[in-house]
Amino acid sequence: MAKVVILTGAGISAESGIRTFRASDGLWEEHRIMDVATPEGFARDPALVHRFYNARRAAARAAQPNPAHVALAELEADPGHEVLVVTQNVDDLHERAGSQNVIHMHGSLFGALCHACDHRWSAPEAMQPQDTCPECGRKATRPDIVWFNEMPYQMDRIIRELEAADLFVSIGTSGNVYPAAGFVQDAAMCGVKTLELNLDRSAGSEMFDISRQGPASVLVPQWVRERLESR
Ligand code: APR
Repeated sequence: MAKVVILTGAGISAESGIRTFRASDGLWEEHRIMDVATPEGFARDPALVHRFYNARRAAARAAQPNPAHVALAELEADPGHEVLVVTQNVDDLHERAGSQNVIHMHGSLFGALCHACDHRWSAPEAMQPQDTCPECGRKATRPDIVWFNEMPYQMDRIIRELEAADLFVSIGTSGNVYPAAGFVQDAAMCGVKTLELNLDRSAGSEMFDISRQGPASVLVPQWVRERLESR
């Protein structure tokens, strides 16, 4: 049984029509990270932050998984592989493609979180600053998204699984945001083989044993086919 930990970023959902962050037409060209992706920005202008994530939730709902998401679900279904997908993405395209073992380290557009009591529930289609928490009644509801300066979810489990893996694969991420950008180094230090599949060379490409460049919808199904045929 081969144990594979797969990190995914915005690039795997790009061909489903979801915008990435750091491309020339990416989200961070139009929006300031400080305004829409930090706790300070939310405290300053919650209506602006809700508008940003409401629009992204609608875009994610309208999108469909692409062949890269589907191929990862196929690999997970293979009895010779134990697959964990660790995604930085806040869409649900991995789950809709059929992946079951998925960690959303940066949270989810489809969750609401009470900043006051930590209660979590399903996000309505459009969240508003006046929404109250169904548990404690405070007006402290926010999207269940991990912002800059906040701790990503399930880090202990991710590191444990990564260090016990046979192979670490990074797909569609620019390698600019830690801690995810450091996974390749953690893996290499534990003797885990590393592979990158990305449209272009990322900030950390040279740290991978193998780095292949191309669109995820082509590279990922190709790599999964190679794995399944070599068994
Ligand atoms: N196939 C494969 N890779 C692609 C494709 C594609 N079709 N399109 C784009 N890419 C690659 C880009 O070349 C880039 O290296 O995906 C990467 C996307 O990088 P970013 O936009 O920086 O997205 P990501 O790495 O997921 O960002 C990490 O930053 O702002 C935060 O919280 C946000 O989770 C996000 C984190």
